[in-house]
Amino acid sequence: MLDLVNLRSELSENYDLRPSAALAESMGDIYRKMDRVVTPLDWVNFAPYVKAINELKKKRNAVILGHNYMTPEIYHGVSDFVGDSLQIAMKAQEVDAEVIVQAGVHFMAETTKILCPEKTVLMPDMEAGCSLAESITADGIEEMRAKYPGAPVVTYVNTTADVKAASDICCTSSNALQIVDALDSDTVIMTPDQYLAQNVANQSKKNIVYWPGSCIVHEQYTAQDLKDFREWNPGTRLIAHPECPPDVVAEADFSGSTSGIIKYVTDEKPEKAMLITECSMASNIADELPEVDFVGPCNMCPYMKKISLEKILYVLHTMENKVEVDEAVAEGARLAVQKMIDMSRKLGL
Ligand code: 13P
Ligand code: SF4
Repeated sequence: MLDLVNLRSELSENYDLRPSAALAESMGDIYRKMDRVVTPLDWVNFAPYVKAINELKKKRNAVILGHNYMTPEIYHGVSDFVGDSLQIAMKAQEVDAEVIVQAGVHFMAETTKILCPEKTVLMPDMEAGCSLAESITADGIEEMRAKYPGAPVVTYVNTTADVKAASDICCTSSNALQIVDALDSDTVIMTPDQYLAQNVANQSKKNIVYWPGSCIVHEQYTAQDLKDFREWNPGTRLIAHPECPPDVVAEADFSGSTSGIIKYVTDEKPEKAMLITECSMASNIADELPEVDFVGPCNMCPYMKKISLEKILYVLHTMENKVEVDEAVAEGARLAVQKMIDMSRKLGL
């Protein structure tokens, strides 16, 4: 576990991280991407970290891959590439850098390491987990195979390398339906997200059986929340992530992965939109879409929120928190992830 007191003293000895209004102003081009959601006072505090990280990235030949759930100062301030789980995994293979800092949760860093074993992959906080990844082990996959002999196992990328290695193919929320439909089997096992599986089942002709895992962020929404919100705020477009329960998705106007949500709001530009997903999603696109009023409650992912500018700077400075995956496990997991990437490319996703 990172010791925050040590971390802060190590950083302050090596970098000038004092809040500076002059520095904040000189970095106005970056601030303008988030000035609707980050206060000027917060920016004065963030700017020295953003400057230090961006300089250190060059020195270390590093890039930062940021998931769409990162806070705006990480998403706009220091990330070289941002996207959903599939886009990040595909980008990891393309980037020409020795070091990749994964601004996201642990399973994403593991996927990056599996795809890029020759690169150093750093995780700003090793404890940034995921309730879905914690819900299943490789034994769970074998249990499902024993129950449904011969059925292929499609595993969400939100899992550990062992679980991926025990599966036939991976999926993300942006390709799950297409991957399931492309498999040559009437019955398909989906793990570990029961809601993603049920949402896919509602659109597919396949018989889908699933593991009972769930995302602690998306399972909190109820269909009644959406009905009430619509009644109290007529005209609001409700946009849900497919990790939400199926009755929530049924109540929404659109459902898609985090990048699918961004594309929908960017194309449609509704006057008012409620994003039924993690809180940072709306914050990250608010400045690009001034005509859209993002309204309504959101839920915070406690794992994603473990990542901060301070921890990113620290791992880049010390090169600690290297993500390692045993090569025997990585080999099996790579097959499942690569099959997903190849199929996604073939399907033009
Ligand atoms: P996507 O970005 O693939 O939609 O995934 C959402 C998520 O919960 C990642 O943890
Ligand atoms: Fe896991 Fe849900 Fe957090 Fe994504 S939002 S990392 S699925 S707990």
